[in-house]
Amino acid sequence: MTTPAAPPRTSATGTPHTRREGRAKVTGEARYAADIPFAELAHGWLVTSTVARGRIRSIDADAVLAMPGVLAVLHHGNALRLTPGAGVMGPDANLQLLQDDRVPHVGWPVALVVAETQEQAREGADALVITYDEEPHDTAFRADHPGLRPTTPSPLAMPDVDQGDPDAELAASAVVVDREYTTPEEFHNAMEPHAAMARWENGRLEVVDSNQGSYAVAQVLAKLFSLDADKVRVRSEHVGGGFGSKGLRLPHAVLAAMATTVLHRPVRVVLTRRQMFSLVGHRPATAQRVRLGADADGRLRVLEHETASATSTVHEYAEQSTRHSRILYAADAFRLRTRVVPLDVPTPSFMRAPGWTPGSFAVESAMDELAAEVGVDPIALRIRNEPEVGPVSGLPFSSRNLVGCLEEGARRFGWADRDPRPGVRRDGRWLLGTGVASSAHSAGVGASTAAITAEADGTFTVRVTAADIGTGARTALSQIAADALDVSPGSVRIRIADSDFGPAWLAGGSMGTASWAWAITEAAVALRKKLADVIDVPPEGITAGADTTELLGAREQRESHGYGAQFAEVAVDPLSGEVRVRRMLGIFAVGRVVNPLTARSQLVGGMTWGLSMALHEEGARDDVSGGLANGDLAGYHVAANADVPVIEADWVEDHDTYNPSGIKGLGEIGIVGGAAAIANAVWHATGVRHRHLPISLDRVLNGGRR
Ligand code: MOS
Repeated sequence: MTTPAAPPRTSATGTPHTRREGRAKVTGEARYAADIPFAELAHGWLVTSTVARGRIRSIDADAVLAMPGVLAVLHHGNALRLTPGAGVMGPDANLQLLQDDRVPHVGWPVALVVAETQEQAREGADALVITYDEEPHDTAFRADHPGLRPTTPSPLAMPDVDQGDPDAELAASAVVVDREYTTPEEFHNAMEPHAAMARWENGRLEVVDSNQGSYAVAQVLAKLFSLDADKVRVRSEHVGGGFGSKGLRLPHAVLAAMATTVLHRPVRVVLTRRQMFSLVGHRPATAQRVRLGADADGRLRVLEHETASATSTVHEYAEQSTRHSRILYAADAFRLRTRVVPLDVPTPSFMRAPGWTPGSFAVESAMDELAAEVGVDPIALRIRNEPEVGPVSGLPFSSRNLVGCLEEGARRFGWADRDPRPGVRRDGRWLLGTGVASSAHSAGVGASTAAITAEADGTFTVRVTAADIGTGARTALSQIAADALDVSPGSVRIRIADSDFGPAWLAGGSMGTASWAWAITEAAVALRKKLADVIDVPPEGITAGADTTELLGAREQRESHGYGAQFAEVAVDPLSGEVRVRRMLGIFAVGRVVNPLTARSQLVGGMTWGLSMALHEEGARDDVSGGLANGDLAGYHVAANADVPVIEADWVEDHDTYNPSGIKGLGEIGIVGGAAAIANAVWHATGVRHRHLPISLDRVLNGGRR
């Protein structure tokens, strides 16, 4: 008689799982960096500059030091000297806080008041008198600014592209679309403000932070404070949103570490919402010129894209908007330029789908304009220009299913009946229109380590310095580990966000899950080998680890991206200028989807942000003071529930083994193309083209002028 085989276990990945920490979060049991109590905790409050450019003349600390509870006033005259050159993605002078008297923008940290309570620290910070020698400043961004210059070459910079003969192709084109598009300063507003507690414990600097990558933050702090790498431990258990703002700029963590070193007691620093508008990066204003030359049937002969963005005088950040034009469409010639204008403004940084987001607004709007010019359906136009290989790189695609997204989206959205003429549909006072745009985002993988312990009780513990910034990373990783170990997710414990677990990629660049999954899968293979010869697991368990650095280095180069198609239907009231988005549909090709439940949340969240970008978000910089007139959530509008209609996100087949996990990442792609789909729908509704975001009521009333 043969033993019946065990029933096959259902794979954990690909099926919906509610997030593991969901109950803890909704009951308030989950504690964030600013919630965790520490004995002897002191509180730091940042003082930031009120002038846009100049030097600090005086700081009157004595009066503040005499106030109740105040323990210290740190400023450039007494602060610890930091080691220059630190940064996650290359040296970033924004980390060199309180090092000199120079003020580079409104909102730059000039002092930290530390006190027994947060209220006393705030009171002291409010009372601190600082005088400045002001210098004339310039905060007004424009593409024809005399300071416009090419970006400084670096591993991160997008090189300019000159391919084929753009001038000859333009001359030979039957149709040329040549337009300028602009996007304003935009700000990520993670619900949880940045916060860090720092203390010295057994000769190590310990930081409890809110970040997107605890290993990276630990390395930066070690470098800044000239410590051995193993003398810093950073943890970040729960994170209330990041979007690129948590991990590169860390004024809260740097100043908390500085203060605890001086005071010999734990110090916590929490940023205010207003401080987040100047200290943790933002999406810079962009001005983009797109020139498309095409044959009469819409086939592209030339794609030119010149993008300019604002940066600061502290550190160069260039918004890499030509990412989109490098990958979406075939053309005989390309001319791509990335330029920056240094101004006396805070340093921009990565913000959800950096480069792709503003770039897709310009290029996908221009494609819609071309479709109208040549009289070709916007979806057919895109499919007609589908490339065989990377249009600029010539590299093969790891996989690419943009056409599948456009076709499936068209079917589900009901595109076939669309009357292409603009401004001819009405619903009472509302003009109605529909629009489409392509979406894409790079699908990268970063080197990571992970370790798995087989415990004596038959369960497994995974350790990886992942970050769960609200995405459900813990849950997805438990599914991946369960499948790799061939056990149920319930027997897998996931421990993340502790730099002591070793190097791992950040929750950034839509690379987190793919990077960590690869390391976990390798560790599982190693562990199963070890366990094969084991009869009894000892009390301390059996552990195997993995490091994907070499595997990654051995890969051939590919163009690896996720793709998508965004559809929007809008109603426009030509009398009030109001634009209502009535529905949105996004169909994506993003490799293997680990957890459909949290994946859909990511995509819908991104699409909601696309709506917010299209209609609401705009930093209003007052060029007289150099500061933001609306640097808080009262003045900086983001889409609220009432603005957001039914948003549907789904995906099509995209089998890709370039990274063995098949995961492409989908944290950012949901925002890409959304604003263009809505702007294209507004054109279809009204016949007026909106090339300047946001499409506010006044812009609708004044015909889309800047
Ligand atoms: Mo993302 S902007 O890479 O956190």
